[in-house]
Amino acid sequence: MERISIKPEANLLATVEFAASRIRSALKKVQGLGKMLMGRLLLTLALAATACDGFKFMTNWKAPTLQGIRDQKIAAEKFGDKKLVVITGTSSGLGRKTAAALLNTGQYHVVGAVRDLDKMELVAELDGFDPKDFTAMHCELANYTSVREFCDNLNEFKAAKPIDRLICNAAVYQPSLPYAKWSVDG
Ligand SMILES: NC(=O)c1ccc[n+]([C@@H]2O[C@H](COP(=O)([O-])OP(=O)(O)OC[C@H]3O[C@@H](n4cnc5c(N)ncnc54)[C@H](OP(=O)(O)O)[C@@H]3O)[C@@H](O)[C@H]2O)c1
Repeated sequence: MERISIKPEANLLATVEFAASRIRSALKKVQGLGKMLMGRLLLTLALAATACDGFKFMTNWKAPTLQGIRDQKIAAEKFGDKKLVVITGTSSGLGRKTAAALLNTGQYHVVGAVRDLDKMELVAELDGFDPKDFTAMHCELANYTSVREFCDNLNEFKAAKPIDRLICNAAVYQPSLPYAKWSVDG
């Protein structure tokens, strides 16, 4: 009978190689688990961020109201696709010329904020402002109450239409006036 002799060194080498291969495969498993956990963590963070954005959107969201729908209809009928411009002081000088130039393009509805409606009516007639596209509104800029009333009137008039352009033109410049002039509000 043939006798097989196993060298003790060969036996030891095989054992070490076997142990090393087990350690390698265990390490691979741990790495795979780590990657999976990291992936899940990133996914959770991404979902949380999206959810936050969603909630931010919700805070700005307003349920449509009947009044809002009515205002949008009024604005669409009144202005069509024209831009809404508000100019202070359209009854003379630069404000008057600016209103005329914008109206001539046919692309704007101009609201003229003026302190003298009779004067404005005359000027609008002289310059041929189309009443369909020009609206005069009373506004005495030297009086806060009048300014607030103007804002209320404008809001009611424009309904849901945003103000596309605001030209703050009206003012008086009197550097040589020998005394100080005050508004009603001081
Ligand atoms: N023209 C220039 O060389 C020049 C140079 C630098 C700066 N600016 C400035 O440009 C703007 C227009 O000048 P402009 O030469 O056209 O003057 P403007 O002919 O005197 O016209 C001024 C307009 O502002 C109105 N206004 C004045 N005070 C008001 C008040 N308290 N409430 C409501 N409306 C009021 C006037 O109304 P009424 O018609 O009822 O008076 C008028 O429509 C002014 O801000 C001015 O300071 C002009």
